[in-house]
Amino acid sequence: MRILVTGGLGFIGSHTLVELLENGYEVIVLDNLYNSEAKVKEKIEKITGKNIKVYTEDLLNKESIEKIFDENKIDGVIHFAGYKAVGESVKKPLMYYHNNLMSTINLLEIMKDKNVKSFIFSSSATIYGDPGTPKYVEELGRGKTTNPYGTTKAMIEQILEDLYISDNEWSISILRYFNPIGAHSSGLIGEKPNGIPNNLMPYILKVASHELEILNVFGNDYDTPDGTGVRDYIHVVDLAKGHVSALKKIEELGKGLYVYNLGSGRGYSVLELINTFERVNGIKVNYKIVERRAGDLAEYYADSSKALKELGWKTEKTLEDMCRDSWNFMKKEIG
Ligand code: NAD
Ligand code: UFG
Repeated sequence: MRILVTGGLGFIGSHTLVELLENGYEVIVLDNLYNSEAKVKEKIEKITGKNIKVYTEDLLNKESIEKIFDENKIDGVIHFAGYKAVGESVKKPLMYYHNNLMSTINLLEIMKDKNVKSFIFSSSATIYGDPGTPKYVEELGRGKTTNPYGTTKAMIEQILEDLYISDNEWSISILRYFNPIGAHSSGLIGEKPNGIPNNLMPYILKVASHELEILNVFGNDYDTPDGTGVRDYIHVVDLAKGHVSALKKIEELGKGLYVYNLGSGRGYSVLELINTFERVNGIKVNYKIVERRAGDLAEYYADSSKALKELGWKTEKTLEDMCRDSWNFMKKEIG
């Protein structure tokens, strides 16, 4: 089976390529390198010992997508490509709506034309909005999103539902990720944010490596065990494996629209993450408590029982693994 992976040189896409190749899938990659580097291709090839074909193309350019489908027999698509920075999306909503929506619509239109109807989409826990319970289960459905990035994810979910209603020959799997961190155990691929990171683990890495001076912990007066925010961190390799499970399920069940949370099913606080990082890596992370960040929720984590029951998937790696592998990647990057 040959899978087109959009955004395949990015953080989650690159780890998923490794898992796909190790499970015998053939892959074709499309990425415009907006938030990734061409050298990730060689790193994936080094890890897996397999060659991959990469098209440095933009999904906003419909002709280039068409060319890929004409040149290769594609059986299904995993769609990672998109912009993902919450804060930036608030400042540049049109840029987010344009890229995330138009690229997805272009891709789906070409797929429809070429009669390729197997699709896996990267959604996010952010689509639940603030459902009034910390445990997010799929049936809660989409809530009111709080930023344009999240709204693009909710809108694409809606588009996929409508598409399936219009033509139930499609096999669509919507995967709602919780907070992916960690890196491949080789240290060759991982998350490499440009500039000052918004997310917790990338920020910790830059403080640990002395690129940034101090981590701001956004609030310690939440109604959580230690007062800091609680999230469901998931190792990116576990997340990548979730895509292989979702793909196998689509192959087995065929047509349908499926929605799964991919998380570990438990929450960790900001301080728990910092303490674990310090302990497993023997390194100090300077931090100070500051005001809450606008828009943050106190606590949420996945109910992942549906993915376990239907996909046979669950996380295997620990918070220790996530902290060790993230730092191992960062150390290799900074040399
Ligand atoms: P990433 O930025 O590392 O990867 C996305 C890739 O898409 C990049 O390599 C980028 O160059 C490419 N891309 C962007 N726009 C493109 C376009 N128009 N044409 C071609 N390529 C394009 O992000 P990631 O963390 O790997 O996330 C992958 C997907 O998962 C995204 O859709 C993201 O919104 C979603 N997601 C991520 C998280 C997270 O915390 N990382 C959480 C939930 C959902
Ligand atoms: N935090 C800090 N200091 C920082 C960064 C974060 O204390 O410098 C705290 C936050 O307040 C929160 C926790 O660390 O309690 C996690 O924050 P992140 O920014 O790492 O992640 P979020 O949960 O806010 O959001 C992330 C992605 C979203 C995605 C969501 C899915 O940024 O795109 O996970 O659950 F939708």
